[in-house]
Amino acid sequence: MSEAKRQAALKAIEYVERDSIIGVGTGSTVAYFIEALGGMRDHIRGAVSSSEQSTARLRAVGIEVLDLNNTGTLSLYVDGADECDPHKRLIKGGGAALTREKIIAEASSRFVCIVDPSKQVDVLGRFPLPVEVIPMARSLVAREILAMTRAQPVWRQNEDGSGVVTDNGNVILDIHGLAITDPLALEQAINQIPGVVSVGLFARRPADVVIVGGEPPQVL
Ligand code: 5RP
Repeated sequence: MSEAKRQAALKAIEYVERDSIIGVGTGSTVAYFIEALGGMRDHIRGAVSSSEQSTARLRAVGIEVLDLNNTGTLSLYVDGADECDPHKRLIKGGGAALTREKIIAEASSRFVCIVDPSKQVDVLGRFPLPVEVIPMARSLVAREILAMTRAQPVWRQNEDGSGVVTDNGNVILDIHGLAITDPLALEQAINQIPGVVSVGLFARRPADVVIVGGEPPQVL
């Protein structure tokens, strides 16, 4: 799948305008995008980054990382996804960067999502849905999600058994066993639970363009 990811990322470069500031997501597909963006570093003003990981990658290719508070609306946001449905609604957060990703998507006029074909689904939910939670609310939020959905929230762990900590100092619950027939309603309902920072459903603000890697890449 890495070739398909690379093809999608290279196609997204066509959406980059000269002298603009680019919103940049997180993950292995975006890593290809950052690599290609490095070749254009003298033609863009900089980037707003969605994670410490992407910030390091951007700086490594010589792109200045800017604070969203100083940039205003961005013309373009490029990011990957864990799942994408035919309405360009997404599950994101496999890399635990969902909150900053959501903020930048909201701040951008155009959201171009880059995926390989394995990410395309008819109904979202096969990929466990990530939820970023304030640490003290972890058990409360897990109980409320279980009661609401009958699906199983699992506290995300690192390989050494410690809990994953996000760039914002929070924890992640992954909800297993969902079939999300109404993504907008579920996004709103989970967002209402006290202690939830954000949920990795992008239905209220879906992608505007989805590029599926292939030969040639498909633009949806
Ligand atoms: C990170 C994300 C990523 O976009 C998502 O996990 C896809 O990653 P990859 O491109 O490595 O398959 O949402 O929080």
